[in-house]
Amino acid sequence: MSIQDELKRAVARAALGQVAPWFGTNAAIGVGTGSTADLFIDELAAHRGSIAATVASSDRSAARLRSHGIRVVDLNEVESVPVYVDGADEIDASLAMIKGGGGALTREKIVAAVAQTFVCIADASKKVEVLGRFPLPIEIIPMARSFLVRELSRLGGEPRLRDGYLTDNGNQILDVHGLRITHPRSLEEQINQLPGVVTVGLFAARGADILLLGSPDGVQESRRK
Ligand code: A5P
Repeated sequence: MSIQDELKRAVARAALGQVAPWFGTNAAIGVGTGSTADLFIDELAAHRGSIAATVASSDRSAARLRSHGIRVVDLNEVESVPVYVDGADEIDASLAMIKGGGGALTREKIVAAVAQTFVCIADASKKVEVLGRFPLPIEIIPMARSFLVRELSRLGGEPRLRDGYLTDNGNQILDVHGLRITHPRSLEEQINQLPGVVTVGLFAARGADILLLGSPDGVQESRRK
């Protein structure tokens, strides 16, 4: 296992402390998508008997949860999600994030919007001064693709179609390279306004509440100010 994988496992384990208060209750725990979220799912397996339900941000995570015997329910079946645990592709000091490297950004944003507390789990390589080195994923309606490529180029980025890829919702993804995102909240709002955009993978208006960051010195916890 690489050092990065060990750090991911350490934060996945630390996240158990954030969800443990809901073990043995009827709460549904929100579970994200990606390699770090996969490790969190594996940690949950040992507690399957105490977990009433989960909601998942992708078909892939739902399948992994079920493979461990953990119940997955539709988000429409629950009234609240007290805590949502997910990874990030990049996160800044304000706990704004780029997400969607794994393509699940739309469902991630929906679960994040419902969740009372968003816990981001990430290894130290994800922490950045300025968002944008990781290409910004945008889920789009296919017929708007050429229009959106022109519009997003005007913002200074270089949009590239994620070739041969369709989201769980049957849409395409443009990955926008070369952005330097100094004002994530306003860029999120601006891109959200473009017709044909389903979701932009900028999580700034609703960023993380808690970050568990794995470094060789241990897991550091920080909270949104
Ligand atoms: C999934 O769509 C993404 O938002 C992931 O949460 C993000 O890419 C982090 O993934 P890793 O844990 O695999 O780095």
